[in-house]
Amino acid sequence: MASRRRLIAGNWKMNNTVPEAVVLAQEISNNFERDYSHRVDVAVLPPYVDLKPVTTVFEFDRVDIAVGAQNVYWQQAGAYTGEISVAMLKDIRCEFCLVGHSERRELFGETNEEVNLKAKALIAGGIKPIVCVGESLSMRDGGAYLDYVTAQVKAAFAGIDEAAAKECVVAYEPVWAIGTGRTATPEQAEEVCSAIRAQLSQMYGEEVSEAMRILYGGSMNEGNADLLLAMPNIDGGLIGGASLKAKSFIEIVKAALR
Ligand code: PGA
Repeated sequence: MASRRRLIAGNWKMNNTVPEAVVLAQEISNNFERDYSHRVDVAVLPPYVDLKPVTTVFEFDRVDIAVGAQNVYWQQAGAYTGEISVAMLKDIRCEFCLVGHSERRELFGETNEEVNLKAKALIAGGIKPIVCVGESLSMRDGGAYLDYVTAQVKAAFAGIDEAAAKECVVAYEPVWAIGTGRTATPEQAEEVCSAIRAQLSQMYGEEVSEAMRILYGGSMNEGNADLLLAMPNIDGGLIGGASLKAKSFIEIVKAALR
């Protein structure tokens, strides 16, 4: 593998009240050996209301686990009821933020254009976007999934320059594998992740594309992480269900160390 540092990020989705989030963060912290962070980046992405309490747990314990959000709005401030800005996330020390998760695209109508606006706003505000892409089952069965996913990448990165792109992470999450227990095989995941890197190379050149991290997400767990992470173009995982159990999440972090 190139010299990319692996990233394991736990997407908590809409789970955990503040007390529950604090308990989970504390369990993760208690089981997190200090030297893990020498070799792998680890992040959790809790709901907005849990961000600060979770950050407080990790800071109090001086454990090197980053915190990130699951969504953001691209405008700076103003009359946008219900939305959260980049500056608000930055202020509570968010390092990452998901954009374009398939659940946001499907359930909340998020478009490629919005994903692009959010990614740009995050970059401008000093937060690393984790840009999510992935095809549906019908798209996969239809055979045009590589074109579809690379088009999503192209749209998400439109107008983003090389220096900024280098700070971004891409997460390939086939919709048919999310929360279904049906993981993509390592070969299926690698095929798409390598096509994503080729697309990034076309846009930014080889040096930048080789430096960028591409994660796999979709029913990744402690049982399948090793094989997925062994693939040359998979630089980590975006973990949903398995990130809600401290033990499973830590086991996946350990797999990323091997
Ligand atoms: P899952 O979710 O691991 O529960 O499939 C992954 C994701 O949606 O980020």
